[in-house]
This record gives sequence, structure tokens and C-alpha cells, in this order.
Amino acid sequence: MRFDVVTLFPDLFAPHLTQGITRRAFESGQVDVRLWPLREHATDAYRRVDDRPFGGGPGMVMLAEPLETALAAVRADRGELPAVVHFTPAGQRLDQAQVQAWAAGPGAVLLCGRYEGIDQRVIDRHVTHQISLGDYVLSGGELAALVLLDAVARLQPGVLAAPSHEQDSFSDGLLEGPHYSRPEQLPLADGTSVPVPPVLLSGHHGQIARWRREQSLAVTARQRPELITAARASGRLSRQDEQYLLSLGL
Ligand code: ADE
Repeated sequence: MRFDVVTLFPDLFAPHLTQGITRRAFESGQVDVRLWPLREHATDAYRRVDDRPFGGGPGMVMLAEPLETALAAVRADRGELPAVVHFTPAGQRLDQAQVQAWAAGPGAVLLCGRYEGIDQRVIDRHVTHQISLGDYVLSGGELAALVLLDAVARLQPGVLAAPSHEQDSFSDGLLEGPHYSRPEQLPLADGTSVPVPPVLLSGHHGQIARWRREQSLAVTARQRPELITAARASGRLSRQDEQYLLSLGL
């Protein structure tokens, strides 16, 4: 898949695309990220990419013409665009179901806004999806684009050692339970120690799977009860799950 990123700050991307487990997906071209520095598409002699809003008001607006020119250059390079994403707090909140859909698709053009926003005519003419990270305001869309690229890259085949994303939080609509590793007893300064839950050392795969499911249900019920409601409504909870929640008084 291919993502074409239109941005005023292309240098923000390299550090994130060359580190960690997702690096494999980016360097192999499995997730082919191409950067389109917007300033190179400025159309006036001063290389301006922003200006004051018509009608007055605070801040600056990203000019339509450099964005139009950049999008035309992307189209000339890759052909018809599968999707054009604009990152904005006014968009639809990104979740794992959407990430899975992007991870299985052909990619997109990612428009990273800065300042007060981008000229609405560009949005009206080109944008097919508006995505928000959450109900807060970032100084630009670059971090949001990186979030999407990271979440998509880790779902590509071969990126994670085992297909551990099948157990990710949200992959079945619930949060993941806790994880433990060495040592079996964590020694404390006062001479006591903190054990790991004994079931994890039992070697009993059925019991471990059941315990993990129950931890997942308990964490979700405590932290994000609305996810339990949604899982119930869509029939994703077994009778055993319901019995366990009942035993917790939920
Ligand atoms: N740009 C500015 N704020 C944003 C947000 N919350 N999500 C996505 N893009 C943004």
C-alpha cells in the first residue's frame, strides 16, 4: 500500500519511520510512504503557504493553491487517488476497526493541516475522509498521520514476531488484560516479593486462556464500561463471559 503525505514539515516523519518494529514495514515498502513537502508547491514568489482568513479572525489558513498543486502532483505520480484524508479535530475519531480497514486497503493521500486549518474549498473538492485522534487540538496533522501510519504498519504481515495483534486491545472490542514476565517473584527492598499470578505458571493452556479472557473482561468493565455494553449488544460475549461479569457484580 502507498501513503502520500502532504506536509509543511516532512522532517518530522523520518525519525518515526526508521525506528522500532514498524521500520520493517516502511523500509521494505510494504507500507510505502512518500513525502510531498508543501512549500515546494507554493505558487507565489514568496513561497507562501498560508495567509489571513477572509472575514477576519485569529490565525492563518493554509492556502488552497499550494494544496491543489501538490495534490495534482501526487495524482500525476500515482494515478487516481484511492482516498484523501484530512486530519482535524472535526473528523471521525480513529479507532482500531478503522485502522484495520486502512491496513487492508491500497493506502491514501494524507493531508496534514497546520495553523487554523486548510481552505475549505480543498476539503470540499478532494477530501474523502476526515480523521481525528481525539477531542483535543494538536498544532498540526503530522502527529495524527504518524499515528495512523504506525497503527497500520504494525498490522502488516511479518511486522510483529507472532501475530500478537490478534490479541491487541480493541481487536475483539475489549481491552487487553495484564502481562507478566521474569522474575516469578519480584524482590522488594523490604525483603518481601511480588509474585506473578500462579495460573500463568501452571502450564495449563485452557486455564490460562480463560484467566486472560476474564482479566480482559474485568479491565474493560472497570476502565471502559461502554465497550462491554457494545460487546453485549453485538453478541460478542459468551455465556461464560456473562457469568464472570455477573460474579463481579456487573
Ligand atoms: N489536527 C489538530 N488536532 C487534531 C486532532 N485532534 N486529531 C487529528 N488531527 C488534528
